[in-house]
Amino acid sequence: MCGIVAYIGSREAYPIILKGLQRLEYRGYDSAGVALLDKELAVYKKMGKVAELESSLIGTNLHAQSGIGHTRWATHGEPSDRNAHPHRSSSGKLAMVHNGIIENFAPIKKELLQKGYEFESDTDTEVLLHFIDDIYQNDANNLEEAVRIALKRIVGAYVIILLDQDNPDTLIAARKGSPLVIGIGKNEHFLASDASPIIEYTKEVVYINDYEMAIVKPDELILKNPGNERITPFITKLDMELAAIEKGGYEHFMLKEIFEQPTAVFDCLRGRLDAKKGTITMGGIDQHLDLLREAKRIIIVGCGTSWHAGLLAEYVLEELCRIPVEVEYASEFRYRNPVINPGDVIIAVSQSGETADTLVALENAKNKGAFIFGVVNVVGSSIARLSQAGAYTHAGPEIGVASTKAFTAQLTVLYMIAIKLGYSKGTLSKERYQHLINELAMVPDKIQDALNEAASIENLAKKHQDARDFLFLGRGYNFPIALEGALKLKEISYIHAEGYPAAEMKHGPIALVEESLPVVFVATRDIYHEKLVSNAREIKARKGQVLAVITENDDLFEEIADDTISVPAADELIAPLISVVPLQLLAYYTGLAKGLDVDKPRNLAKSVTVE
Ligand code: AGP
Repeated sequence: MCGIVAYIGSREAYPIILKGLQRLEYRGYDSAGVALLDKELAVYKKMGKVAELESSLIGTNLHAQSGIGHTRWATHGEPSDRNAHPHRSSSGKLAMVHNGIIENFAPIKKELLQKGYEFESDTDTEVLLHFIDDIYQNDANNLEEAVRIALKRIVGAYVIILLDQDNPDTLIAARKGSPLVIGIGKNEHFLASDASPIIEYTKEVVYINDYEMAIVKPDELILKNPGNERITPFITKLDMELAAIEKGGYEHFMLKEIFEQPTAVFDCLRGRLDAKKGTITMGGIDQHLDLLREAKRIIIVGCGTSWHAGLLAEYVLEELCRIPVEVEYASEFRYRNPVINPGDVIIAVSQSGETADTLVALENAKNKGAFIFGVVNVVGSSIARLSQAGAYTHAGPEIGVASTKAFTAQLTVLYMIAIKLGYSKGTLSKERYQHLINELAMVPDKIQDALNEAASIENLAKKHQDARDFLFLGRGYNFPIALEGALKLKEISYIHAEGYPAAEMKHGPIALVEESLPVVFVATRDIYHEKLVSNAREIKARKGQVLAVITENDDLFEEIADDTISVPAADELIAPLISVVPLQLLAYYTGLAKGLDVDKPRNLAKSVTVE
């Protein structure tokens, strides 16, 4: 969940590491730090955002050609200077950064305390560093061996990178569970949690796998497996441009990514959906069409917004393919010992492809014989590499912590899967198949139309910015969108918000309705429309404020609701791809009106790589 960067080569390390930390700050922003090695090892760290570290170092001699850096999402030990990374060994000669959680740090700490070690912080990371240093001082011939011995005792997830004052030309790195990418330059190497800090220097990268160790020198990258055997690094070429990870003139990444959705959905459809030919071509599906067609059950696994995409896909897959579908929170699915039978297909939905709960849930299911199909945005990520087949969402890098364009791209992929599978199974007629293909092809333009309502949505956000609570209601395909709208508002504005199937209101939540409560209806025209109108009347009868996302020219809801946001008409099955956009904007503008950091909301991180 933290962001890690390192550099070794002939350039000044500090500016490269600092910019890398700024690019990775969406992974955690509780504290930041760097360790630089010139003649001596120097460690600088500060509570708060990377900008605070940067300003605290103005005027300091930061010359060095190797260094490590860290931006933190606190797990063990509250955000503070002393709990910030890098940590330093008691010998003072080692510095280490870590992303992950050491689950068995307490017994190891006890042993080290008995040996007289003292701890400056409350972190699990410092325990691992002293443990490595203890083995280095007493039992190992070199740091690499000490790290290998130590990690054999470790339970948990980690990427660690160590800097050693006695070996200034070598970085030692190791990975299990958390992501690590190494960029290959000319007589230099870049190490990072993902490719965004590396892209401006090189497009040649190596994704490090679990239990692998890297010994990195300016002109050499040695990879070793757990058996201490050398393995040949598999070099991948990044197909990402620097502009994709810049704000491009927008005030926030979140707003940029919301407005990128017409392009993101178009890129997701491109080369796959051909409305003229009436075809959907998806390599990952085509190669396994028989298996998917005969699937006894589909289990969709994900977290947060990705789980909401899965929930909507449940409705669509059952409707079009007549295959039983279950949607699972990965964190529950990984521990509840689920029944998995041969013929079961697991669809894993993840933007980052690194979410720990989803990753481990898939590993467990794979070990039980399930077929894993990944729907992932980040190319080369762990979930993508673990899946037996998959489809990338091609939404481009998503930097804002709140997922927006990745969500609509996930839905686009899941819709294409359902339409293609339904037609090939014969559970979807040729006419409906062609109709849905045409509808999907029109989505980018309809999203653009919805984005044109941004100004009026900003006014609504300002009107309700002081609300203490919000309710989001929807039925059928719009229920998962109500959940997503509530999640976006919570994440970005810190207003308590809940999403419900509208008919559930009468079974309790309607007790919350009072004059000050905004109730958002996701009310695009569908078979539930009349029923939703009655639900809205029930809210109005109790003086609640009704704000509705409606299909344009819906006079009935215009008459009932206090405020409406119109979106273009679309097939009821496709409409959620469009009706979510006003809810993303509502959350964004509410956070903006409240003066909050919409790209880095408190307590959150973009990719949850720890349990
Ligand atoms: C959504 O805005 C959040 N960032 C969060 O709920 C996210 O969807 C969840 O952590 C899953 O992440 P993933 O898609 O990268 O696996």
